[in-house]
Amino acid sequence: MPEVQQAQSFTSSLREDRSFPPPAEFAARAHIRSRAEYDAMYRRSIEDNEGFWREQARELDWFTEPTQVLEWNDPVAKWFGDGRLNLCHNAVDRHALGSRAGKMALLWEGEPGEVRSLTYLELYAEVQRVANVLKRYGVRKGDRVAIYMGVCPEAVIAVLACARLGAVHNVVFGGFAAQALADRMNDAQCKVLITQDSSFRRGQDVLLKAIADEALTRCTCVETVLVHRRSGHDVHMQEGRDRWLQDELKSAEAQCAAEPMESEDPLFILYTSGTTGKPKGLVHTTAGYGVGTLLTTKYIFDLHEEDVYWCTADVGWITGHSYVIYGPLLNGATVFLYEGAPNWPDVDRFWQMVDRHKVSIFYTAPTAIRAFMKWGADAVRKHTLSTLRLLGTVGEPINPEAWMWYHREIGHERCPIVDTWWQTETGSIMIAPLPGAVSTKPGTATLPFFGVEPAIVTKSGEPVPAGHGGLLVIRKPWPAMARTIFGDPERYKQAYWSEVPGCYFTGDGARQDEHGEFWLMGRVDDVLNVSGHRLGTMEIESALVAHRAVTEAAVVGRPDEMKGEGIIAFVSLGDHVEPTPGLKDELKKHVAKEIGALARPDDIRFTPALPKTRSGKIMRRLLRELAATGEVKGDTTTLEDFSVVAGLKEKDEE
Ligand code: WTA
Repeated sequence: MPEVQQAQSFTSSLREDRSFPPPAEFAARAHIRSRAEYDAMYRRSIEDNEGFWREQARELDWFTEPTQVLEWNDPVAKWFGDGRLNLCHNAVDRHALGSRAGKMALLWEGEPGEVRSLTYLELYAEVQRVANVLKRYGVRKGDRVAIYMGVCPEAVIAVLACARLGAVHNVVFGGFAAQALADRMNDAQCKVLITQDSSFRRGQDVLLKAIADEALTRCTCVETVLVHRRSGHDVHMQEGRDRWLQDELKSAEAQCAAEPMESEDPLFILYTSGTTGKPKGLVHTTAGYGVGTLLTTKYIFDLHEEDVYWCTADVGWITGHSYVIYGPLLNGATVFLYEGAPNWPDVDRFWQMVDRHKVSIFYTAPTAIRAFMKWGADAVRKHTLSTLRLLGTVGEPINPEAWMWYHREIGHERCPIVDTWWQTETGSIMIAPLPGAVSTKPGTATLPFFGVEPAIVTKSGEPVPAGHGGLLVIRKPWPAMARTIFGDPERYKQAYWSEVPGCYFTGDGARQDEHGEFWLMGRVDDVLNVSGHRLGTMEIESALVAHRAVTEAAVVGRPDEMKGEGIIAFVSLGDHVEPTPGLKDELKKHVAKEIGALARPDDIRFTPALPKTRSGKIMRRLLRELAATGEVKGDTTTLEDFSVVAGLKEKDEE
C-alpha cells in the first residue's frame, strides 16, 4: 500500500464556500436542467446500473445489438459482450452518411497560422483512404500501430483509420524522447509507425521524424513508417521502410468498409506512468469506451449541434483520445484543433482563435490557466470571447484563485466551469458537475457521473466520514474502464483491484463534504503531476541512474505555483565524481533526453547517501518534506542513519 501523502497545498480550499448555480439561461436549454433531474437520473443509474447502461448503449450504432450488459469476473469486466460495432463507423460514417455530411468535423489551425477544415463527408473520405494505405502495408485487425505526431487533422485521421480496420492504436505524445517512444513501440510490438516530418511549437521545428529514426534503431518490430509531410522539413527516408503518406494516398482506393468489431476487442493501448520505472500500457476496448466517452461528452459539456468545441489537450494523452477525438466525434460535434504553443507569436493566441473560430466550449488544464494569469488579463481583454458558453478543466486539482480568474476573465461570469476528475485508466470522466444542473464551487469536481459510484475509504476499505480525507475508490465497474495492462494482467490486478478489497483504487486522495461533493487532494502514490502530466518518480530515477556519474537517485515532487508540482531529484554520485553545477545541468539534460523535456528535474540535490529505513526503503516522505519546506520534522525513528538527514539539511541551507 502506498504511503498516504498530505496535500498541504490544498487545505485552503477546504473552506471554500463560494457557490455558482447554473445560469438560468444555460439551464433552460441544457440536456439536464435541474438538480432534481440529475439526482433522479443518477439514482436510477446506480439502483438499476445494468438497465441504465443497456439503455445508454442504444446511443451507438451497432452492427449487432448486444443482449448482454455486464459480465464481471473481478477484476475482468466485459461490457455488452455479444454486440458488434465499429467506433470509426460511429464517429464518422453515421454522420457523413446522414444529416451531418456537410457539417464541419475538424477545424484546425497550424501554429504558423494556416487554417484547414474537413466536413464529416471529407473526413469519411480521408479516413477510408488512410485505412487502405495501412492495409497495403499489412495492417489487419488486432495489429498494433504506433502514432507519433503533433496536433493536426492527420493525427485524428490516423487514429480513426486504425479503429476502422480494428488495428490497435498506440499514440505516443510528441513530447516524448526517442527512448520513451522505442520502449512503447517495443512493448506493444507495433508493426507500423505513423509520424510526420516535423511539427511547429513556439516557432521551432519539433523534429518528430528524426526522433522516430533514433527510436527505430532500438526497435525491431516496426516494418513500415508512414510519414505525413507537414512542414516540408528535410528528413531522412530509409529505403524500403519509410514512405510519404501523401504519395501513398494518391493511389489509395476510396472505399474501405469498417470492420465489425466485438464489443471487447481492443481499441487502443495508451501508456501512462505508474509507481515502477516501467510505464503501463492500459488497454481500452471498443463498446464500453464508446458508450462512456459519447455520453460524458454529451452531458458534461452539454453539447449541442451548433457548438464549436475545443479541448486543448494533445492527442497523445488520454484527454486527447477521449475528448478531442472519440467523445466529440461520436456526438457529431465540430472539433477545433490547434497545433502549437499558447504564447506564440503572442500570449493572446488562444483568445484570438476563440474569437476567430467562434469557439463555444473550451476545455483546458489548470496549469494553462495559471500561465494565462501570469501573462495578464490585458491580453485576454483584447478579445470578446463572446461565443464561449462553457469552460472545463482537467488533469490536476484547480486552486480557487485560478478557478475564479477563469470564471471572471475567460467566462465573463457567464460560463459554467466543469472541473472534471478522471484518469487514463477510467477512460471517461467520472466526477464532474453537469453544468445545467449542479452548482459549481472553486476546487471541487462536485458529483459523480451517471453509473459511477465513488467513495472515500481507509486503507482497509472502511468508509471515512464526511469532511475527512481518505483514498478515492470506485465501487462498481463502468463501461469505459481500462480492461488490463498490455501483457501484464497481474500488474493490472495488483495496481488497481487489490489495494482496497472489492474496489477500483484510483491512487488519489480526496474527501467528500457534507453535501456529498468530492474534493480531490492529489496522488497518494509515487506518481507526480507536473503541469497536468503524469510522471512516475521511478521512471525519472531509472533515467538518472542510467547516467555514469550517478549511483543512486530519489525523485520527489515539490508544490509549484505554476506547474502544480515540480520535480526534485536527490542524487548520490559515484566515488571521485565532483558534484559541480555543470553536472547538475548535464543530469537535467540527460533526463530530458531519456524521457522527454516534460520530465526535466527543476532541481538536483547532491547527497552522499539517501535516507533509508532499516529494510532499505528510501524514505520519500522525508525527502518530500525537505523539498517542500527545507526541513524535516516528521518522525524519523525508522531511519537507518540519522546523519544522512542532517547532511541533506545542511546542503539545503548552503
Ligand atoms: C489527476 C488525466 C484533481 C488525478 C485525465 C488523477 C485530477 C490523474 C483531475 C490522472 C481533477 C485529473 N482534479 N485531480 N479534475 N483530473 N486529476 O491519467 O491525480 O493523465 O489520478 O488522466 O490526474 O492523470 P491522467
